Amino acid sequence: MRAHEAGALHADISNRGPAWLRTPEDVNALLPTLWPRSVTRGADGAVAVAGLSVRDIAAEFGTPVYVLDEADLRSRCRDFRAAFPTEDVFYAGKAFLCRAVVRMIAEEGLHLDVCTGGELATALSAGMPPERIGFHGNNKSVAELGRALDAGVGRIIVDSFTEIDRLTALARERGVRPRVLVRVTVGVEAHTHEFIATAHEDQKFGFSLAGGAAANAAFKILDEGVLELRGLHSHIGSQIFDASGFEVSARRVLALQAQIRDARGVELPELDLGGGFGIAYTTQDDPATPQDLAKRLRKIVDSECAAENLAVPHLSIEPGRAIVGPAVFTLYEVGTVKTLDGIRTYVSVDGGMSDNIRTALYDASYSATLASRASDAQPLLARVVGKHCESGDIVVKDEFLPADVQPGDLVAVPGTGAYCRSMASNYNHVPRPPVVAVRDGQARLIVRRETEEDLLALDVG
Ligand SMILES: Cc1ncc(COP(=O)(O)O)c(C=O)c1O
Repeated sequence: MRAHEAGALHADISNRGPAWLRTPEDVNALLPTLWPRSVTRGADGAVAVAGLSVRDIAAEFGTPVYVLDEADLRSRCRDFRAAFPTEDVFYAGKAFLCRAVVRMIAEEGLHLDVCTGGELATALSAGMPPERIGFHGNNKSVAELGRALDAGVGRIIVDSFTEIDRLTALARERGVRPRVLVRVTVGVEAHTHEFIATAHEDQKFGFSLAGGAAANAAFKILDEGVLELRGLHSHIGSQIFDASGFEVSARRVLALQAQIRDARGVELPELDLGGGFGIAYTTQDDPATPQDLAKRLRKIVDSECAAENLAVPHLSIEPGRAIVGPAVFTLYEVGTVKTLDGIRTYVSVDGGMSDNIRTALYDASYSATLASRASDAQPLLARVVGKHCESGDIVVKDEFLPADVQPGDLVAVPGTGAYCRSMASNYNHVPRPPVVAVRDGQARLIVRRETEEDLLALDVG
């Protein structure tokens, strides 16, 4: 790949795609790991979810639209609950939060992580029991902390000495004793298939372990006695497939647990190992099942506790992407198809970086399929791009679509449940797409489409 000052995406002018991308034997095939569990191709060749054709969904709700397979989301919640029956599973709401999803995860027995006042308001307004809410964030305001205390949230994950002071003052004022975890920066950074264990911890989240801040935060809370210190928390990254990052982080955080016991005679009863469990976006990703994850995490924690002579703490985890990511696909309509001879075919859809920023932001890889029909045409390597005024407005960098893909076709991109609608923007004044939940052949709107009136209503100048 040639270097380019505007970034790698601008430099790659070959039309061969990445080495791993193979010409499919059947360009209409749907790889089960990429799609919500109820997705099939109907007799007419169109993709259907829970028995409902995407053509019907597009006709009723328009495009682009995020399509949520409700049974899929619920089954992923159940898989985590079954794999972690004695632990607490906190759904990380930052991945995607709306009231209907709050109700689904609450009904399925999960807890919920929020990290802003807005997420907290959404959770509470949907009836999430406050004692099952955890409150995260590196810069929670005094007002947000006060609201969390007044609502009675189950735990607050403290992230700075300033926050400990703020929360202590608020707790004293109210005469309450909130439960807190200390977020520890363990010097492990895990992304996709690799992790790095570093000596220093250059990031905005948490208290440094190596620098001693994490121990001092725990001592401060214990010595002041106003907040109830329940345990330590560590989150090492995202889209992780390799348990070795968790092994290093658990070892480091449990060593701190032992240090606290030795210094203050207190064994903290809880431990949260965070989220970040990977999902399949392309054929290259092979995610672990929740059962596998549970087995590996328990083994790591058990052996580290034995090594430190600690009782095994009550564990919690915080999956976001692994629950909602695979349950959703985005349905777009093709507007133009442009072939640059010998270079590339661009398939432009009616959304883009405003509904999925991950490709532009993280160089993320996605897959796509022609969804409104099956095709006998040869596979053609294409790039699915959006409608925004930005050449980096790419939805799917490289994918084989049938060579007869044309304007008016529907294209579906799987794996868009996490960090797509929740990170959506109004760039170019494009209204954000709706979210439609499908169950037993019925579709219902759970987040409506934004309108130009909505955008103009904010513009009061
Ligand atoms: C503290 C914490 N927990 C959980 C998560 C969820 O991560 P994922 O959606 O990758 O599982 C995040 C993501 O940023 C996080 O910061």
